[in-house]
Amino acid sequence: MNGQTPMGLAAAAAAAVRPCRRRLLSSATAAAAATNATATSLFPRLSHPHHHSHGRRLPFLASAASQQQSGQQTAASPETHIPADPRAAVSGNLPFFDRVLFPDTFPLETPPSAAEEDAAASAAAAADEELASALKAREETETEREAWRLLRRAVVSYCGAPVGTVAAEDPECTETLNYDQVFIRDFVPSALAFLMRGETEIVRNFLLHTLQLQSWEKTVDCYSPGQGLMPASFKIRTVPLDDNNEAFEEVLDPDFGESAIGRVAPVDSGLWWIILLRAYCKITGDYALQERVDVQTGIKLILSLCLSDGFDMFPTLLVTDGSCMIDRRMGIHGHPLEIQALFYSALRCSREMIVVNDGSKNLLRAINNRLSALSFHIREYYWVDMKKINEIYRYKTEEYSHDATNKFNIYPEQIPSWLVDWIPEKGGYLIGNLQPAHMDFRFFSLGNLWAITSSLTTPKQAEGILSLIEEKWDDLVANMPLKICYPAMEDDEWRIITGSDPKNTPWSYHNGGSWPTLLWQFTLACIKMGRPELARRAIAVAEERLAADKWPEYYDTRSGRFTGKQSRSYQTWTIAGFLTSKMLLENPELASILTCDEDLELLEGCACCLSKKRARCSRRASKSHVVG
Ligand code: GLC
Repeated sequence: MNGQTPMGLAAAAAAAVRPCRRRLLSSATAAAAATNATATSLFPRLSHPHHHSHGRRLPFLASAASQQQSGQQTAASPETHIPADPRAAVSGNLPFFDRVLFPDTFPLETPPSAAEEDAAASAAAAADEELASALKAREETETEREAWRLLRRAVVSYCGAPVGTVAAEDPECTETLNYDQVFIRDFVPSALAFLMRGETEIVRNFLLHTLQLQSWEKTVDCYSPGQGLMPASFKIRTVPLDDNNEAFEEVLDPDFGESAIGRVAPVDSGLWWIILLRAYCKITGDYALQERVDVQTGIKLILSLCLSDGFDMFPTLLVTDGSCMIDRRMGIHGHPLEIQALFYSALRCSREMIVVNDGSKNLLRAINNRLSALSFHIREYYWVDMKKINEIYRYKTEEYSHDATNKFNIYPEQIPSWLVDWIPEKGGYLIGNLQPAHMDFRFFSLGNLWAITSSLTTPKQAEGILSLIEEKWDDLVANMPLKICYPAMEDDEWRIITGSDPKNTPWSYHNGGSWPTLLWQFTLACIKMGRPELARRAIAVAEERLAADKWPEYYDTRSGRFTGKQSRSYQTWTIAGFLTSKMLLENPELASILTCDEDLELLEGCACCLSKKRARCSRRASKSHVVG
């Protein structure tokens, strides 16, 4: 799908208020949005008042008519981009879901009773009170106070309302590049810190404004990428209203990769947007937001890009190099773990949020089928531990058959020498990438941690990953949590794979640098697995240095001793990641706004597709599935 295909809901509405080639939002639009923002509860609400704890959505019909009646919304407001028949626009835009036939493996859930809803509402109120007292319990440290001050300094406003945080606010740096923009992925830890403090407006504004940017006309030379693409970042510009330069307006200007270094599409942005939307709705109880027609359309457009048919043979998403946090060439094109983990998480979150009706049934089945195939694929083929590496070491190659053991024709010679000594007796991890005849054995932190958080791994694998991090503490944490990947590429490998990138020299930046922002994801994974003491240890390491080092973007050297060569100071996601980690540790129950539990039904679905593996991935087998 590209920008020229029948327009989606948001695009159709946007076109109605601006000429085809106009790329800018008017101030009036945003002012109206700010006025219309719904008040949210002072303290976060934990449990879901409407839904089963199990997760799937009740059949609730978000009515466009009721939305249009509900406020004094103006035609230009992001709150009101609703055509006369919104569902027609949606289905017209998503022919894929209508035409694909899926086995009826996953019956949709029945709605909860009124009594269940009442009980959930009282539980939510009790949780609010508990949280309020927990949050008041402790005095902030000096470092935390400084972090809050810096985080607030990074906030940017659009027409008087806060909409995000810039990537870095380094007063000593004259070359801002694009660090003065609001990055979607960078804003996530800021959003979480604000949400956990009960400051929810900025997150709601961010979600709605980025939703509008989704349907922008975007082009690289003469080509228009898919409509569901979310920008990597956006900037607020002040531009003259007319030729006289007498009046000005603020505009949001997105970057979809068309001006990013290397012109990479940010595949992760849409996935993060979905994950953040669920977190926002769960913590505030503002489920009306996810049920809005334009928000539902936004979710569907992102999924439509991710679930569309291609030439691929695997359930993993096929992407170009640099399409995620690692946004420069680092040899992660193909099926990088980070994208797969975020994809799985976004599918799980969407399944909870998509309103069940005739128009969404096929989409929900597509999601469930993809989830089961994806989790089977990652658990089975990405996992390595001592036993698996020994198996690969003895692989036969060139097996032409349906029941080959070495399905991807991996030549044992590609097991790197560092791994032979490095892999511990206990524990294991998910490899970075899998392609025909290629396993990328590097350890990537974000992918592994997010696989734990979203339950993409089995519980045993999740324990194994944390146990490996503990065992390899000096390599992965050392003087600053956390290595973005391990080990670094050196010499010819660095030259060929990065294209001699001077920023990604060995043990620097993306190539084995240490990124303090990853602390919050580590904390989350530790809380989920009942190992908060590990997170506490890592936070203590970071807390000792971050403020004194001016909150750097990343650290260099094998053990993370030096501030990164070209590292920004006062990097917002370093600051926010630290605050979020501390708040999560103090309120571990809040981790549930981001985590997903193991879903055994998904594994059952998997057995239908893989008859040879039936015994292995059936529900019964999965319960006792022993890794290694
Ligand atoms: C770098 C990082 C990217 C981040 C951006 C802004 O490009 O690689 O992940 O979003 O800086 O901080």
